[in-house]
Amino acid sequence: MTLPAQHPLVDGRTSASALVTAYSGTRPDRQPVWFMRQAGRSLPEYRASRAGVAMLDSCLDPELASEITLQPVRRHDVDAAIFFSDIVVPLRLVGVDVDIKPGVGPVFGTPVRTLDDVQRLRDLGPLDDERLAPVAAGVARTVAALGSTPLIGFAGAPFTLAAYLVEGGPSRDHLAARRLMHADPAAWDALMAWTAEVSGAFLRAQVRAGASAAQLFDSWAGALSKADYVRGCAPASSQVLAGVRALGVPVVHFGVGTGELLVAMRDAGADVVGVDYRVPLDEASARLGGATPLQGNVDPALLGAPWPVLEAHVRDILERGRSAPSHVLNLGHGVPPETDPDVLTRLVALAHEL
Ligand code: CP3
Repeated sequence: MTLPAQHPLVDGRTSASALVTAYSGTRPDRQPVWFMRQAGRSLPEYRASRAGVAMLDSCLDPELASEITLQPVRRHDVDAAIFFSDIVVPLRLVGVDVDIKPGVGPVFGTPVRTLDDVQRLRDLGPLDDERLAPVAAGVARTVAALGSTPLIGFAGAPFTLAAYLVEGGPSRDHLAARRLMHADPAAWDALMAWTAEVSGAFLRAQVRAGASAAQLFDSWAGALSKADYVRGCAPASSQVLAGVRALGVPVVHFGVGTGELLVAMRDAGADVVGVDYRVPLDEASARLGGATPLQGNVDPALLGAPWPVLEAHVRDILERGRSAPSHVLNLGHGVPPETDPDVLTRLVALAHEL
């Protein structure tokens, strides 16, 4: 399967953008910058748009999802939009009983603990184009409004989705999922295979509908030992990454606390590795052999520090980022809801002026 002729990477709208250039391993003239969770509670216009609408309903309303996606692009002049959705959206679309509780995160009606439970997920049927229609419509609408600014599509990696599904909600150390991996390897492998299919379909749909790049969030992979990651999770993530890269878009692979997994996450089949704030970029680049484009890694905590402190931190990151072939400035994790949005705007201007 190839991209349609009117895709922004094919018709040339985004192929020479700073983001796509950097993701492809070449240092562009302008320093690209965007923020994970740039659309969200830090923006008053987001809070107004979301008033009275449940999180997952807003994701599945193409007009609203598109409007929320565009808000940070208008306000901050970031170099990319990231589609407003959530990692559990594909689960909801196949009929899993999942909701997002404000201030908590994804919560499930029934946790997945056995091979029979995984079979019940499979019995829900595939995530086909009909079920994905609201996502494709939201992306298409957004891309039409973005012009030469690329849209990033995203999905949750199989382990991070499993960390929620097995626990039935958010957890601290993802013990239930890590236990299942060892207690019932057959159930675990079946769950990884299923989440890879659903997540892959969700990500490919965003790319076919017009996303110029993709990011796989394995946010909680940092809870895993390297051996467990490589043996129990990376094969399923590789399947998702390969399916998207086959469409011809660059793919970013990101996790939190994954300093020990950077090489394994690159080797799973990513073009770009996202680095959280714990490992300096020059150190991350050295671990990766100096040949992998990087994304990151402003500490979100410093968004609340006095400007000179934040500015020095950002300058240091940009300097260290020069040890990689190319670098997209971002945070080491998502924008905290209490962030002053003017700080983000100022940070974008700083990156562009340096
Ligand atoms: O980055 C962006 O601007 C795109 C939007 C985006 C959301 N979720 C919207 C959202 C992205 C990329 C995600 C991915 C996501 N969702 C991840 C991976 C990234 C990461 O942060 O590690 C994870 C682990 C989730 C699961 C999830 N969904 C959590 C932990 C929460 C927060 C719960 C809370 O209220 O604090 C959500 C809800 C969610 N997803 C919100 C947003 C804007 C907050 C909803 C609200 O406004 O109340």
